[in-house]
Amino acid sequence: MLTGDRPTGPLHLGHYAGSLQTRVALQNVHQQTILIADLQALTDHSGRPRDVRRNVLEVALDYLAVGIDPSVTTIALQSAIPEVAELTLLYLNLITLARLERNPTVHSEIELRGFARDIPAGFLAYPVSQVADITGFRATLVPVGEDRLPMIEQTNEIVRRLASLAGHAVVPECRALLSTTPRLPGVDGRKASKSLGNAIALSASPDEIRDSVRAMFTDSAHMRVSDPGRVEGNVVFAYLDAFDSRHEEVENLKQQYRNGGLGDVALKRRLDEVLQTLLEPIRTRRALLARDPGAVLGIIRSGSERACSGAASVLSDVREVFFLNDHGCPMLEHQASSAETTAVLCQRLGPLLRCRLNDTLCTIPSCHRCTAPSRETCSFSTSAPTQ
Ligand code: TRP
Repeated sequence: MLTGDRPTGPLHLGHYAGSLQTRVALQNVHQQTILIADLQALTDHSGRPRDVRRNVLEVALDYLAVGIDPSVTTIALQSAIPEVAELTLLYLNLITLARLERNPTVHSEIELRGFARDIPAGFLAYPVSQVADITGFRATLVPVGEDRLPMIEQTNEIVRRLASLAGHAVVPECRALLSTTPRLPGVDGRKASKSLGNAIALSASPDEIRDSVRAMFTDSAHMRVSDPGRVEGNVVFAYLDAFDSRHEEVENLKQQYRNGGLGDVALKRRLDEVLQTLLEPIRTRRALLARDPGAVLGIIRSGSERACSGAASVLSDVREVFFLNDHGCPMLEHQASSAETTAVLCQRLGPLLRCRLNDTLCTIPSCHRCTAPSRETCSFSTSAPTQ
């Protein structure tokens, strides 16, 4: 199972309801990797690299504070896994510009950011980097919201193209694990987002929580306590649905609100209590962890190392499809077990390739096919390199 988050700010209650809770619950059931997608964050934050860097630690703190357990879940940093970047580069050959532009999720994100035609190329292509993230760990399960389904579709298209190019399956197709909780709105009723500043951070202080709840949109036609009010589209009820475990009581409150006789102040007081109780232990744990950033970075480092070794085997398989293993000569990988075999192959492969091979072999210090200490003494360097 693979998920990720862009480190563009601390995580908020929307992440908690839609995704973090699921990850905590499933971490003992599925082998899970969580990527802090800093390279992806740069695709629309290239002007603020320092912020992206800073938020890597914040996001990791959020994970640990909500109960992601690094001994069972691999927390890795995208930029620390060069294999994923190379996979992205190779996959870019398997998709057209038109297809990238057709992705409805990217389409609406481009509109939201007002990019028009000034889209960073990296942003348009970020779904491909996501394909690399997913396939890089042979993930078959990707927890996503409904709005991200096109990403899964695009992933499987690339996976199938790769398989048809190779003539066999190379990486597995994946499927979405759809979140059952509806998307949590922001305090103002719009989409909750770090950049709109309308979300309640997991690290919010008691005062911040209280102020956010006070500012929440309810029903503008609900003026007096006795007025009937609307529950649908009411932000306070959306949060109660997500976080108040006393479901029956919430249903009764909804009925009361609809009929008239329940005021916004009383309703918001209840939500404030619920959120204070939910976030207090998370905030305490987070503060404790934040005292030792070195330990948190250590967790990211060892997670990334683990992730690298997994992704290396995938990259090798994908490079194989493009005949890229062993410096441009995939046949050598399998057939040449001795310097002698290499020499025979080199002769067959023609002068240009031979020069390249000799070059390559002689500059690899520990190459098992060429024990010569330098290019000058290499027994294969009989013909002068032509270029
Ligand atoms: N796109 C996700 C976000 O916007 C982060 C992410 C990166 C991701 N790689 C992924 C999600 C792979 C699912 C699968 O937060």
